[in-house]
Amino acid sequence: MHVVNYNDIESVKYVLKRYPVACVIMEPILQNVGILKPQEGYLQEMRRLADQEGFLLIFDEVKTGFRHALGGYQSICGVTPDLSSFGKAVANGYPMGVIAGKKEYMDYFIHPEKKKRVLIAGTYNAHPLTTAAAIATVEKLADPEADVYGHVERLGATLEKGLNDIFAKKGRPFYVARQDRLTAYILWTTFPWIFMILPPTTISHSIKYTVSALSAKGSSTSPRPSNKAAFLTRTPKRTLRKHWTKLKKSLRLYEDNGN
Ligand SMILES: Cc1ncc(COP(=O)(O)O)c(C=O)c1O
Repeated sequence: MHVVNYNDIESVKYVLKRYPVACVIMEPILQNVGILKPQEGYLQEMRRLADQEGFLLIFDEVKTGFRHALGGYQSICGVTPDLSSFGKAVANGYPMGVIAGKKEYMDYFIHPEKKKRVLIAGTYNAHPLTTAAAIATVEKLADPEADVYGHVERLGATLEKGLNDIFAKKGRPFYVARQDRLTAYILWTTFPWIFMILPPTTISHSIKYTVSALSAKGSSTSPRPSNKAAFLTRTPKRTLRKHWTKLKKSLRLYEDNGN
């Protein structure tokens, strides 16, 4: 296995020149480090290289799938991988993982020749509980009346604007990285920076927590979700408090460092 740099086609070409490569597995947009977006043309070039050199392009959409869009980040960037993995949001927190891909590769799981068949087995594969959770989640996400993505997009935009306004007023360097429904805030300090990733399920809570607390107006109590938003606001308050405590601690460190 070789590790290559994200947004760096040359590092992929370097490995391709020296070693046989069966596949490249990558998050199409990095979400394990906050939000790091692909540079223009980067994913398209990865697709082109995969076709030219004959390796499989695999998108790890465990974090990005079902959060950015029902079709995952690949439906937004327009680059179709050969295989994809999904998890987390697909069953709204229930333990489900999904492998998806082009028929010619997925057919290896049911290949008529035993020697060529790829084993896929697991005690809880297709368990009724998680499967029901995934179906309910997908139905909700696909429901135009619920408008889940539109709703969370608007919340994300409010969060971005609110945070930028507050930190601009305070004259502090602050950067909000947002892609669709996913928001990370990065507070630059003389100390190490911090970031928080807010999945859709936490955004509506966090807006209230963060904006009201940072602007020292109103209370930081949990908002009362509208019926429409109820589905999105089931994140335990404990988790949100933990995030918020971390953010406050970093702000304190920032100030203690003479900023
Ligand atoms: C991008 C990404 N891929 C894969 C995984 C692993 O998923 P799992 O813990 O379901 O194996 C994670 C876990 O956080 C992840 O963030």
